[in-house]
Amino acid sequence: MFPIEKIRSRFPSLERNIGKRKAVFFDGPGGSQVPTSVTSAMNEYLLRNNANTGMSFATSLETDEVISETLRACADFIGCEDHREIVFGQNMTSLNFQLAGALSRTWGVDDEVVVTRLDHDGNVGPWALAAEWSGAKLRKIGINPEDCTLDMESANEVITERTVLVAVGAASNLSGTINDVKKIVEIAHSFGAEVVVDAVHLAPHSLVDVSNLGCDFLLCSPYKFFGPHQGILWGKKERLEELPVAKLRVATEELPFRWMTGTQSHEGMAGTKAAIEHIAWIGREVSGNPELSRRDALISAFGAIEEYEQELCLRMLEGLGAIEKLKIWGISEPNRISERAPTVSFTHPSMSAKEIAERLAEKGIFVWAGNFYALELTEALGLEPEGVVRAGVLHYNSMEEVDFFIEAVASILS
Ligand SMILES: Cc1ncc(COP(=O)(O)O)c(C=O)c1O
Repeated sequence: MFPIEKIRSRFPSLERNIGKRKAVFFDGPGGSQVPTSVTSAMNEYLLRNNANTGMSFATSLETDEVISETLRACADFIGCEDHREIVFGQNMTSLNFQLAGALSRTWGVDDEVVVTRLDHDGNVGPWALAAEWSGAKLRKIGINPEDCTLDMESANEVITERTVLVAVGAASNLSGTINDVKKIVEIAHSFGAEVVVDAVHLAPHSLVDVSNLGCDFLLCSPYKFFGPHQGILWGKKERLEELPVAKLRVATEELPFRWMTGTQSHEGMAGTKAAIEHIAWIGREVSGNPELSRRDALISAFGAIEEYEQELCLRMLEGLGAIEKLKIWGISEPNRISERAPTVSFTHPSMSAKEIAERLAEKGIFVWAGNFYALELTEALGLEPEGVVRAGVLHYNSMEEVDFFIEAVASILS
């Protein structure tokens, strides 16, 4: 059994009332709620260990320890061996701009950079700009509009011997589509191109495993997986060592710190480690084995989280699908549930997305309306400027909330 009540009791925000009932947090794709263990770790750091790094007094040594332990936790989280391959930053977008700046220094007019029409702009914009600055050509992998999946024929056409880089998302933050990243990596590598994976949307739902994906770089954001507002970049050691990243001359060449500009949010690191420990705790709970290593606990946790979230998502798809004229943008067939994250976007001809979201907010249901920066996709689907309503399920949501949400959407649109 998935320990939903135990999990929910760790998140004080879930106790919040709007009107007569508890608020329903389906806004997770924009940022998840945070368990007490995360804020306690951040408090503890700031109240007892707060210092800058690299000196021999107690709090500075403790800060170095917090950083090192967090990098190790992140290595377990994304499945890499060497914690020096983990770079911390303000958020995914800033880190991707930094990466694009470094990678594009060697590009020229004969090179091509490939992005997709399914990606968040955080994994499109930095590459479009880097292409513009370096003279490289930008190309785009198209989508199949009927189910919001990547068009693999287009991928095979667009990725060629001229390609230097392919930027692809692990999962769409609008349609929830989980992409066949391994296939994209295989095609890109066959032409000697590198692959950057945006795992921001996938990371709260499924295990990230860079060694299995075979990609060259991967990014995610702890604030989407129950931690503080931070970003993480993973890259292979040899590349992180040699790339001409923008850094101060006084800053160290040591990995990963040559990529980490200025003073970092040490409290954010303490919180990120606690967020990863929260997920590992779920893995130990569901397996009944408190001795599991952190990586094994994460594997166990994500197995259970996927199963639990899929049940909720199936109910949501079924309930929304039964509302007349409501259009779900993305995979909706129950037998394809493992091809999507539990993030469901929809529109209805009788009311704008914004108004539906406002009416749901009045009932205490928190959802987003708009394009959520997945601009390539909303443009490809002809959904600009209004966008869609997006309801995202996370492991702390319940079936009761899904049922209440379906009832609410049905009554608003009736
Ligand atoms: C799929 C995806 N990629 C990238 C981002 C940008 O992440 P960040 O806010 O950490 O820059 C988001 C944020 O919503 C996202 O959902």
